[in-house]
Amino acid sequence: MKYVVTGAAGFIGSQLAERLLESGHEVLAVDCFTDYYDPALKEENAAELDVARIDLAETDLELDAVDGVFHLAGQPGVRSFGDVFEEYVRRNLLASRRVFEAAAAAGLRVVFASSSSIYGDAEAYPTSEDAEPRPISPYGITKLGCEQLAYAYAQGFGLDVVVLRYFTFYGPRQRPDMAVARIVDALARGASFELYGDGLQSRSFTYVADGVEATIAAMQRGAPGAVYNVGGGEEATMRDVIATLERISGRTLDLVERPAAAGDVRRTSADATRVERDLGWLATTSLDDGLQAQWDWASARVAAP
Ligand code: UGA
Repeated sequence: MKYVVTGAAGFIGSQLAERLLESGHEVLAVDCFTDYYDPALKEENAAELDVARIDLAETDLELDAVDGVFHLAGQPGVRSFGDVFEEYVRRNLLASRRVFEAAAAAGLRVVFASSSSIYGDAEAYPTSEDAEPRPISPYGITKLGCEQLAYAYAQGFGLDVVVLRYFTFYGPRQRPDMAVARIVDALARGASFELYGDGLQSRSFTYVADGVEATIAAMQRGAPGAVYNVGGGEEATMRDVIATLERISGRTLDLVERPAAAGDVRRTSADATRVERDLGWLATTSLDDGLQAQWDWASARVAAP
């Protein structure tokens, strides 16, 4: 098959593109290398790929002889209040509108990477896909808007879309603004880590390679129009993650306590019943093994000349 992967120079998109290539598929990799974090890291992520530099907020995708679109490009990060909102609107809503419209016109399936952040402080835990969405971050609002835009294109133009709500992916290449990346970097360099809030906030952490498998399964066998949580591995607090990484690294983290950040939810916990039933997918990597893999990757990079 020939698939488009948008956001192919990102943390998840680059590993999805590599996995598709390894499985014998063709990949049209697309990214616009925004400067939300150091674009040199994206160049490194994309070293094995031939990435077309396209800004999807301005340019339509060419979808000749393509079998499906993995739409992972976007403006991430839940701590998203302030003037940056324009970037969230542009890179999530405006860009996704073009992708959905082009895919609908070409009759192609889109697997859209949405986020657990659309649940906000969820009405119940574990949270099923039917829970009321009530995001508490501008980012989450734009991701929910994208989901609803996809639904509108499905109703109005027959778009075949599968929505995935990713739950805090971690692992090698994790975005440098995310907690685990910052903790391993601080441990490896002997720098400090700023903990927002009391550290008892928890996440359904999902190892990136597991999440990539769910993403491919959604393209191959997701129900048209379905929404799936991609999470449901071990839930852990930030204090748990820090303790595990201190044990793995054999070092003590220099922790600086800061106030809780607006936009951050207290807890996420994925109900994975639907994704398991329809896609036969379950998160299989333990938090210990996943954190070990991220530590090995990050500490080797810090040690490298
Ligand atoms: C993550 C991603 O950043 C989002 O892009 C994604 O959409 C979301 O997961 C999701 O699951 O939908 P988040 O769960 O907030 O968002 O992940 P982190 O940024 O790694 O933060 C995890 C926790 O660590 C938060 O409670 C945050 O307050 C805390 N944190 C983060 C710190 O204490 N210090 C930091 O420097 C960074």
